[in-house]
Amino acid sequence: MSRILVTGGTGYIGTHVLAALSEAGHHAIPLDNFSNSSPAAAERLREITPRIAPPVEIDMRDRLGLASLLAREKVDAVIHLAGLKAVGESVEQPLRYYDNNVRGTVTLLQALADANVTRFVFGSSATVYSPEGTTPSTEQSAVGPTSPYGRTKRLVEQILEDTAAADPRWRIAVLRYFNPAGAHSSGVIGEHPRGVPNNLMPYVCRVAAGQLSRLQIFGNDYPTPDGTGVRDYIHVCDLAEGHVAALGVLEGIPAGEVLTANLGTGRGVSVKELIETFERVNGIAIARETVSRRPGDVAVYCANPEFAQSRLGWKARRSLEDICRDAWRYAERSAREKWP
Ligand code: NAD
Ligand code: UFG
Repeated sequence: MSRILVTGGTGYIGTHVLAALSEAGHHAIPLDNFSNSSPAAAERLREITPRIAPPVEIDMRDRLGLASLLAREKVDAVIHLAGLKAVGESVEQPLRYYDNNVRGTVTLLQALADANVTRFVFGSSATVYSPEGTTPSTEQSAVGPTSPYGRTKRLVEQILEDTAAADPRWRIAVLRYFNPAGAHSSGVIGEHPRGVPNNLMPYVCRVAAGQLSRLQIFGNDYPTPDGTGVRDYIHVCDLAEGHVAALGVLEGIPAGEVLTANLGTGRGVSVKELIETFERVNGIAIARETVSRRPGDVAVYCANPEFAQSRLGWKARRSLEDICRDAWRYAERSAREKWP
């Protein structure tokens, strides 16, 4: 059993990583500043998986706070998920994004190096790939993020590459997520955006719950089979298990190198297919209308997941039906019980 610090541990992906770590027999310690989450989710998870430590409230830019945590808690490895993630907001507030995501990560890495904690997994994004690059994306596809958010992700990847090259103690894996969706099958944790959701699945769930009147489909004139945008939706529990797999191969990464792997399914799903699957699986009609394209969107984002399969021994196992069923189970219950 290892002791794993999870930054952003009370967020959407973080809580599912806590569950996967616990299922794999690790001891997980969530850290968060609660800027986009509440400790309540981790507390609910602790009711069904008591091995998870209570969440620690620290901002990753607080080096003294991190140093004091690392002095009192033995930590074998870190899964780094803390960050701001709204593309549109990053265009309006770039300095806030660079300060939080980039300066925050540098501060975290400094505190970890001081404490000799040098096993590190970073939650990056498919948004680092250039929209002009090849699809499905392999890890060798051209990078070229198009938003400040995407550039913070790529900058952190480069900082990690430089850090590994400079100091042979580090073992670092970078995981590039495609479109995480769905929720833990227990229904106690899931995606819980504040305000009106930007992303497709939480928006669909709000329409299903009667909290929003209709879904807007952003464009039906893309060069895709049905004209709507295509994405590689990956069940968040599959994604979380990918982190456990990455931890398992960290020691084998040669000094000076960073292991970079896509976490996706390799299967592209259109907006229309996702809505129709949600309706069929959950027996709920989703009111929708087609509007013009959303600025900045691309037609297709899809992973080539082969490298993760061969190097991490990991593969997404859950279906689009599982994603739709589990997303709704959580959304329906969290709305009914008014979870924070
Ligand atoms: P989330 O907002 O639910 O979780 C991120 C967590 O980080 C939140 O709980 C937030 O409070 C915390 N946080 C932010 N800044 C912090 C700071 N300075 N110190 C401590 N905690 C801080 O988002 P998520 O969907 O769980 O995303 C987790 C990570 O995965 C992020 O880094 C995100 O960029 C990345 N990612 C997410 C997606 C996605 O579609 N959800 C896709 C690709 C990559
Ligand atoms: N869409 C709609 N209506 C909506 C919301 C989305 O039609 O109300 C469509 C989009 O146009 C797109 C698809 O649904 O075709 C998926 O959109 P999302 O907003 O759910 O996801 P994106 O692929 O646009 O972006 C996500 C994350 C980004 C990340 C990117 C690549 O939000 O942070 O995946 O990993 F950069």
